[in-house]
Amino acid sequence: MRRYFQVFGLFGLLLFLFNGCTKDSGPYYVTPPLDTINGYDTVYFATDVVPIFVEHCWVCHPPNGGLDLGATYAYDNLVGATSVGFPSETRVVPYDPLQSLLWKKIIHSGEFGLDMPPNEVLPTEDLIVIRNWIEQGAQNN
Ligand code: HEC
Repeated sequence: MRRYFQVFGLFGLLLFLFNGCTKDSGPYYVTPPLDTINGYDTVYFATDVVPIFVEHCWVCHPPNGGLDLGATYAYDNLVGATSVGFPSETRVVPYDPLQSLLWKKIIHSGEFGLDMPPNEVLPTEDLIVIRNWIEQGAQNN
């Protein structure tokens, strides 16, 4: 069973890398469940998601995009919040990554301005954490 998860994780990684070479074929959506990667299934905003923001985003947020991704304000600035740069978009729609501007930017879909972070793609595991956090209802946990 563990071997199955390892193979599945590798497959996801290959798909992800492949996507980097075929940007024009459209956005890539991460699908494997989180527990195929690191063995737990509840994503915690404070301890799983915020550290990703601190490491990869906080240097620019605040102030870019009117978005503070520091621990104190990140949740209220994301969940159910209307985008500043793209007013038709909601930054995070609970349970629905495909309707969430945050997700569309971090998968480098190219659909809404700069992709995030602008000069790198987040590690696959971080993408999966954020994807699962949104799919689990984007809780403030
Ligand atoms: C090098 C600076 C930089 C880094 C690092 C960065 N961003 Fe951004 N971000 C920007 C700029 C500039 C904008 C505004 C332009 C745009 O949206 O295209 C922006 C806009 C955004 C927006 C849209 C805000 C809105 O409502 O219009 C989101 C969401 C976002 N960033 C998320 C992230 C996340 C998540 C990370 C880390 C994974 C990140 N950014 C890292 C510079 C950065």
